[in-house]
Amino acid sequence: MFAQVKAVIDDAVTTGELQPHRRIPSERELSALFGVSRMTIRQALLEMIGEGSLYTRSGKGTYVAEHKIEQPLQRLTSFTQDMAARGLRPSSRLLGADLLPAPIELAHVLAIPTGSELVRIRRLRLADEQHLAIETSHLPHARCPGLLEHDLEHQSLYELLHERYGLELSSAKQTIQAAAPTEEERRLLEMPSGVPVLRIHRFTTTREGIVCEFVQSAYRGDRYQLNVELR
Ligand code: GLP
Repeated sequence: MFAQVKAVIDDAVTTGELQPHRRIPSERELSALFGVSRMTIRQALLEMIGEGSLYTRSGKGTYVAEHKIEQPLQRLTSFTQDMAARGLRPSSRLLGADLLPAPIELAHVLAIPTGSELVRIRRLRLADEQHLAIETSHLPHARCPGLLEHDLEHQSLYELLHERYGLELSSAKQTIQAAAPTEEERRLLEMPSGVPVLRIHRFTTTREGIVCEFVQSAYRGDRYQLNVELR
């Protein structure tokens, strides 16, 4: 019964019958509608809240969440490309941009001398004004001298690297872990409590096989669904 209740609500969300941010009927109303106990309804709703398709506002009820962003994992794309492909308007807020000496582990992977200059760019990434991710990119300054002088809020970093520095990024190694957000992440990403972030680390390589970017990202776990095709 519980799976059936969930399937009916899921279906109404997917078809758009229940629009994002619409309040869904109360447990009592749903229990009368489906002819099942309130326990069963609660179990179905709790599971959907955990999956991120519904959310609660304390004392106000249960609401339909925004549709998730489906992210295929097979292709190397930039945030700008990902959002544009979905008809969303990408933008960034620059949280920090500086130069720092490369620590030993990063220097090793980026094949640069320890202590040489790294550009560090920390951005809040938005789609249609929704706060989706915080990304901190590290790049060897010698490969993109003067990068910090460019407008990093209104341009795609990957486009900039390609057009100004001839760096064509063509592959990456990425790890993804679920984690509790820090207080700062929760605030910047405007996250409801109880929602995890996806911590993504990416090493990006150019067509010539040069590793030229290390990125630490925190994505809103309730807004993303990662898809991968297995063979
Ligand atoms: C994605 C990746 C990041 C990368 C970014 C570049 O979001 N997860 O690792 O740095 O794209 O995006 P853009 O070119 O839009 O600045």
